[in-house]
Amino acid sequence: MADQTTLSPALLDYARSVALREDGLLRELHDMTAQLPGGRAMQIMPEEAQFLGLLIRLVGARRVLEIGTFTGYSTLCMARALPAGGRIVTCDISDKWPGIGAPFWQRAGVDGLIDLRIGDAARTLAELREHDGDGAFDLVFVDADKAGYLHYYEQALALVRPGGLVAIDNTLFFGRVADPAADDPDTVAVRTLNDLLRDDERVDIALLTVADGITLARRRE
Ligand SMILES: C[S@@+](CC[C@H](N)C(=O)[O-])C[C@H]1O[C@@H](n2cnc3c(N)ncnc32)[C@H](O)[C@@H]1O
Repeated sequence: MADQTTLSPALLDYARSVALREDGLLRELHDMTAQLPGGRAMQIMPEEAQFLGLLIRLVGARRVLEIGTFTGYSTLCMARALPAGGRIVTCDISDKWPGIGAPFWQRAGVDGLIDLRIGDAARTLAELREHDGDGAFDLVFVDADKAGYLHYYEQALALVRPGGLVAIDNTLFFGRVADPAADDPDTVAVRTLNDLLRDDERVDIALLTVADGITLARRRE
């Protein structure tokens, strides 16, 4: 049985050459974001965004929620994967970064599917629970501040329908989760959520050790 294959830069280049479908518009947004301070670390890897699009199609998701828009690369990939009549609500605490992505959403012709909410995600999620109701979403992507992860997970689990999917980014948190000396609040928050997920009977889970770790949690029926 094969063990985990180490992903060298050369192997990542190869994987991209055979499996990454990033068109010119996405590459432009990616390159523009990478030039922002901290942009390279904040934005999703292109293959992860492509994977989210595939997940949307696999789940048959029509109603998607994203927590953490940034410049909207993941938003764009997910919006493109939606069926006619689909909708993605995406939220960020700042309008600065989504303002960079919005023209790309327009150029892709998917801006009409995207409902951007600016404000603290905790407030946005509370509003969604009040106005849209629990179980209103088919898929939720969690990718905002790590200190809020536990709260976002609980809210996401309420907002996703039974059989729906919660995808959580950065669950390996740059490897810090496995470093006993790392005790900063963000690392502790991700570790705490990972521990909870392992034993959470409400969901089926898988931790994909790609990119910075993506945990998929399917809400049980
Ligand atoms: C890792 S980035 C999201 C990356 C994005 N999904 C992408 O693919 O490019 C995290 C985002 O969460 C936002 N954020 C941080 N704290 C937040 C909060 N309390 N409520 C809502 N958004 C928050 C940040 O402004 C930042 O844009």
